[in-house]
Amino acid sequence: MTTSSLVNTVADLDAARVKMTGRVAVVMTMGALHDGHESLMRAARERADHLIVTIFVNPLQFGPNEDLDRYPRTLESDLEVCARAGADLVFAPSAREMYPDGPPQVRLNPGPLGEELEGASRPGFFHGVLTVVLKLLQLTRPDLTFFGEKDYQQLTLVTRMTRDLNVPVEVVGVPTVREPDGLALSSRNRYLSVPERTAALALSAGLRAGADTAAGGGSADQALAAAHARIEAEPGVDLDYLVLLAPDLGPAPAHGPARLLVAARVGTTRLIDNIPIELP
Ligand code: PAJ
Repeated sequence: MTTSSLVNTVADLDAARVKMTGRVAVVMTMGALHDGHESLMRAARERADHLIVTIFVNPLQFGPNEDLDRYPRTLESDLEVCARAGADLVFAPSAREMYPDGPPQVRLNPGPLGEELEGASRPGFFHGVLTVVLKLLQLTRPDLTFFGEKDYQQLTLVTRMTRDLNVPVEVVGVPTVREPDGLALSSRNRYLSVPERTAALALSAGLRAGADTAAGGGSADQALAAAHARIEAEPGVDLDYLVLLAPDLGPAPAHGPARLLVAARVGTTRLIDNIPIELP
C-alpha cells in the first residue's frame, strides 16, 4: 500500500502544494476517521488529480463545556485510512501552527442561519467552523472541496460562504454513510454505551419514517408527525430539534424536495442526522 506524506507545518504544506499540477481536492476532518470520511476521500479522488486531507481538531468550534479534551485522537490509524483512500498529502497542524497569534481576532460571521439549529445549541460553533474552513482553503488552495451531508447545516453554510465571499472553490456534498442498521457514522458514536447505541437508532429510524410517510403520499405535517412518534417512543433520547426545511434550510416548501433534520442528546452525547424528503 502506498503511503500519504504527512506534513505538520504551513511551510511544508506549501512546499508540497506547489509541486501539485492538475486538479486538487481537499477533504477537511478532525481525525478519528471512519468510513464516512473515507467516502469523502474516494469521491474527491474520482474528480481530482491530487487529494489533500487535513486533520485538525479545531479548538475554535468547541464550546467551554464540550468535548475538546476528550475528542478522539487516532493519528496512526487515520494515516492508514488516508493512504488506503488515495490521499497524496495529509496536513495535520498543531493549534499553535494554525493560530500562531492565539485565538484569531477576525472571524467569519455565518449570518442568520449560523444562529439556528446547531448554532442555537452551540453558540459560536459556526463562527469557529467557517473561520477554520476558510483558513484551510487559503492554505491548500484546492479546486474542489468535499463535505458530508451528515453535517448538513455545515455543508449549507460552507457552500453559502464560498458564494457570498467569492471563494474560488467548488463545494461538493457527499451522502451520509450509515451502519447497516441505519445509524449515521460519527466519530462521537464511540462515546455511546450499548443501550445508548440502541436508543440512538431512533434518530435514523424516525427520519426514515418521515421520508417513507412522504413517499407514501403523506403531507409535510404527517411526515413530521411520523418522525416525532418514532423518536419520542424512545425514552433514552432527549430531543433538541426535529425540523422539516427547504434543501437550502429556508422555510419548508409545500411540495417537492425538502430536508428533515434532527438533533438529540443520548446520555451525554449529542448526535445529529438528516435525510432528504420528497413532498408529494
Ligand atoms: P468531522 O466531524 O471530522 O467531519 C469531517 C467531514 O466528514 C465533514 O464534511 C463531515 O460532514 C463528514 N462526515 C462525517 N461523518 C460522515 C458520514 N457518516 N457520512 C458522510 N460524511 C461524513 O466536520 C468537521 O469534522 C469539522 O467541522 C471541519 C469541517 C473539519 C472543520 O473543523
